[in-house]
Amino acid sequence: MTDALRVVDVAEEHLDSAWQVRQRSFGPGGDKAEWRKTALEFAQDGRYLGVVDGDELVAAARIWPFEQWWGGRRIPMAGVAGVVVAPEYRGRGVASLLMRGVLQRSVEKGYPLSALYPATTVLYRHLGYEFGGGRYRFTFPAADLRMLGGRGVAVRKAGKADAQLFIELASKLHETQRSNGPLIWPLRQIESWLEDDDNFAYVAEDGFVVYNWSDGDLSIDELVAGSEETARALWATVGSGASIAKSVLVHTAPTDPVHLLAEHEAEAESRVQRWMLRLTDAPAAIAQRGYAAGAVLDLPVHLEDADLPANAGDWRLSVADGTGSLVAAEPSDDAVRLGARGLAALYAGTPVAALRGAGLLSGGSAAADAALDTAFGGSTAYMLDYF
Ligand SMILES: CC(C)(COP(=O)(O)OP(=O)(O)OC[C@H]1O[C@@H](n2cnc3c(N)ncnc32)[C@H](O)[C@@H]1OP(=O)(O)O)[C@@H](O)C(=O)NCCC(=O)NCCS
Repeated sequence: MTDALRVVDVAEEHLDSAWQVRQRSFGPGGDKAEWRKTALEFAQDGRYLGVVDGDELVAAARIWPFEQWWGGRRIPMAGVAGVVVAPEYRGRGVASLLMRGVLQRSVEKGYPLSALYPATTVLYRHLGYEFGGGRYRFTFPAADLRMLGGRGVAVRKAGKADAQLFIELASKLHETQRSNGPLIWPLRQIESWLEDDDNFAYVAEDGFVVYNWSDGDLSIDELVAGSEETARALWATVGSGASIAKSVLVHTAPTDPVHLLAEHEAEAESRVQRWMLRLTDAPAAIAQRGYAAGAVLDLPVHLEDADLPANAGDWRLSVADGTGSLVAAEPSDDAVRLGARGLAALYAGTPVAALRGAGLLSGGSAAADAALDTAFGGSTAYMLDYF
């Protein structure tokens, strides 16, 4: 790498080269004016970083201002997207340089967590990201959903004005279920989906559904239901399209009640896309997460984190009453030893045995392993959305 390469905030004058690098990285397509408008919003909020060689922009990445549910609590999360390096600059550490800037910026902007969908895991593993969960897609026969009933439930058409209500209904569900993984998008983004004529949205007292057509089938973006009757009503609303649509595609939790309600199991083309997680501010991420009710632990932990050294060192990890803390402590021979990848995977609920098996966790004791599994375990981490 030459000394001229440095991380900068992407500014308006960089946007033409950012678009070019993007086209060369992800292929042609997209509306340039639309892309420019969104890019400027990211740039103006300090969430669009680039690498320049002299004056020329040669790499870029964006940060989405998300929140994410962990153990039923919402935590600010930097969603990293659109990581691109100009082809002639690849293979010499430019993406790594850029991503270190992204991690630093995430901490500065108060995101204790960062997540991304990796096109290659190598780059991100070097930077402390590890698989955190999946985006699960299932396909149900529309005719099965049509039969689910729920006719006694009042369901009305929803629109842009319901965006805040949708966030509240989803929040209630995720708190109750102590969900792990789902995103909360910025309100404006939800409003723009709800005013899009291609999306059909319906709301009941304790739930909602948003769906659309996809190549002759129906595709559900999100379905939230606080009760069995509402679940039946909303799934059946989508299934009522069965005379035209053979299948209903849906991104949902692998443990969603629909798997127990629908007569036939989801079709074989169900698939999972994995996303990666990183703790950018370990004490804040531990303090803001929720934990299994009844879990109690108090352990010495030693963390290695070359890219974000504020996380490194000796800590005391405690969990009680569903709340956790990570407090600086003296070194201990009994410490559980983790790097950034191990910490991310543990946080996301990966069993300690798997972490040991992959060399991502060492030290500690069998009793510590059991306590960690109980505290961080829970429902499978999932996201509904790609970003
Ligand atoms: C993927 C991309 C961003 C990597 O940029 P880069 O500047 O070449 O990456 P770096 O030189 O910093 O590489 C860091 C590490 O990742 C590895 N890596 C980079 N690209 C890789 C690939 N396509 N497959 C496997 N490993 C890869 C490197 O070998 C290096 O690991 P090493 O130090 O063990 O050798 C770049 O190739 C690109 O823009 N591709 C097209 C768009 C894309 O896929 N973006 C990623 C979206 S998540």
